[in-house]
Amino acid sequence: MNAVTVTTSPSLALIKYWGKSDVENNLPATSSFAVTLEGLYTTTTVSLAQNQDQVFINGKESNMDRFQAFFQFLKKKITTDACFLAESRVNFPVAAGLASSSSGFAALAWACCRLINPEVPLETISECARLGSASAARSVYGGFTTLRKGSIYAEPLDLNWPELRVIIAIVSDSAKPVSSRKAMEAARATSPYYAAWLSQSDQLYKSSLEAAQAKDLSQLGPLMRQSYLSMFSTMLTSAPPIIYWKPESIALIRFCETLRSEGLQLFETMDAGPQVKMVCLEQDLNDILNRLKEEHPSIQYLVSSPGGAPKC
Ligand code: DP6
Repeated sequence: MNAVTVTTSPSLALIKYWGKSDVENNLPATSSFAVTLEGLYTTTTVSLAQNQDQVFINGKESNMDRFQAFFQFLKKKITTDACFLAESRVNFPVAAGLASSSSGFAALAWACCRLINPEVPLETISECARLGSASAARSVYGGFTTLRKGSIYAEPLDLNWPELRVIIAIVSDSAKPVSSRKAMEAARATSPYYAAWLSQSDQLYKSSLEAAQAKDLSQLGPLMRQSYLSMFSTMLTSAPPIIYWKPESIALIRFCETLRSEGLQLFETMDAGPQVKMVCLEQDLNDILNRLKEEHPSIQYLVSSPGGAPKC
């Protein structure tokens, strides 16, 4: 095979991974539960290179510092000393808190592994992707996934919930000021709330899986909110504090509250960036979108649903 091309989608955590139990091996300190987002894509083609690894994202050559540990781990894992040339195209804003590193490293790990050996199992691809970005371990699968704390690879969940919808409000498409990697490390090192975050997230994770199995958004939604708001509490209490939110992010959080008080089921979550992702059911989607566009017409909205399994 001369080249492998794969398309992956980002993994949106409903219950967050935030913090590492082992920094060198990039092992997560919390268990996360996520949905892979259909319609947002990273397409990566990998071929063999002469004597160095190179990664291009949307035509721009990347600094290899961010990729060193990933390539080193992957080559050892699948026993190769080959060099790779990777070219990625992303159809949504990169590094703006839309989990582009999850689909990015999942695609890269998939294409590099399968170029060398088409039989490499998904667990191994997920393990390699984790070294790039732990959330990427989840993007190796479609639908609903989990990466348990301390786990070396993510797993797909036996959960079918096609009625779920995710509205992504793009509040800003500029790159975030601090990477999630740096922010979670700062939280671990300096936030007095970090230990509380770790212990609370265990309970949130267990309860959220039960709520999701029962396909009960009214149960799952408040747990999702607690997860992201507790995660942000570790950022706000880091020294120095990290604040990703923009005025529009807060306005949207408030507007979700208004819509809930009117009886609509709509629950927001956020990641390391200003974008607000709102989860609802298909039956309410049009009403909610109309209200959002009326109230906040300058914001761009994308609609996604569970899916996003890698396509070769
Ligand atoms: C807030 O996977 O980008 O999106 O493993 O250091 O690369 P690294 O971090 P990354 O962090 C994602 C954090 C999050 C929550 C989540 O996706 O679970």
